[in-house]
Amino acid sequence: MDDTLTDFLESKNDATAQPHLPYLSQLVGDFLAGGKRIRPLLCVTGWHAIGCGDDVEPIIRVAACLELFHAFALIHDDVMDNSDTRRGRPTIHRTMAAHRALSRGSDDAEWFGVSAAVLLGDLTLTWSDELLHKAGLTRTQLDAALPLIGEMRTELMLGQYLDLHATGGLTDDVDATLNIYRYKTAKYTIERPLHIGAAIAGAGPAVLTAFSDYALPLGEAFQLRDDLLGVYGDPLVTGKSRLDDLRAGKNTALTALALSRATSEQTDRLRRLLGDPLLDEDGADVVRGIFEATGARAGIERMIDDRRRQALRALERAPFTTDATVALEQITRKAIVRDS
Ligand code: IPE
Ligand code: IPE
Ligand code: MG
Ligand code: MG
Repeated sequence: MDDTLTDFLESKNDATAQPHLPYLSQLVGDFLAGGKRIRPLLCVTGWHAIGCGDDVEPIIRVAACLELFHAFALIHDDVMDNSDTRRGRPTIHRTMAAHRALSRGSDDAEWFGVSAAVLLGDLTLTWSDELLHKAGLTRTQLDAALPLIGEMRTELMLGQYLDLHATGGLTDDVDATLNIYRYKTAKYTIERPLHIGAAIAGAGPAVLTAFSDYALPLGEAFQLRDDLLGVYGDPLVTGKSRLDDLRAGKNTALTALALSRATSEQTDRLRRLLGDPLLDEDGADVVRGIFEATGARAGIERMIDDRRRQALRALERAPFTTDATVALEQITRKAIVRDS
């Protein structure tokens, strides 16, 4: 699948057509390094799950198109979350700002970086769509996949909007944060990649429902793990900051659970520290201490485990091939027990 992405980006590398294109294509190529590739893996597993044909090439291209869609989402997410690092490197808007500062000085570098990252994200989304249409699917396969891909796009953007909308006022409503997780993560990360792969293999509605029963709890657990990594993870391993969420005053299930259990003194401290753009590691340690003392951290671990069990129970009932079931059991473990 990585070869497909490399070849596709090389085809966009034509400096004679447009001198800036190789720079943009290179940025996307560099950005793609270091991702876990969970969405492509799920897409191919969904295709295998009901028994599939021999021609693997089209589904690999569809899987690659999902990785480009994910890259688009992350490039824009990092602008929205004002994040400095991703996959162990400066985020795209920071990289493009630094590039501008080198050639034109720092006066407008930040504006340039953010504006150019919005465009690069758009370009990546467009390229994802182009790769889909060049995947070599039959008309029937494309007709089966397109509505699901449309749903996935809308769901992700809606989820990101819900996330933005909820930021700025802290909540103790854990269920409200879980609803956001379903849209901003679970669907585009787990459910839709499986659906898209399966639909291309010819799956009907019952199989898609069986995938949803597995995917939605796992997708919530995936984001719950991400939230813990975003506060307790090692930035050298996760490749991203562990202060961003706290500084942004992001409503996560972890903050909501802590607030729902906090004493009034702990609530005051949390409200003072969460959302402070200058929060340092000492302040973050105070927050972490409250997450421990309220039992919120342990509570999130329990929620992850409940969802893991729910996903595995759904697999037992599902009409998938044995190979695919074994692969999905492994993916479940990797998605939940991870340090990046
Ligand atoms: C990160 O997704 C964004 C979320 C939806 C939580 P991944 O954890 O799959 O990111 P990469 O692709 O491995 O960097
Ligand atoms: C998930 O949101 C990213 C997308 C849905 C694209 P977050 O903002 O929680 O994820 P990270 O921590 O930046 O990867
Ligand atoms: Mg975000
Ligand atoms: Mg983010």
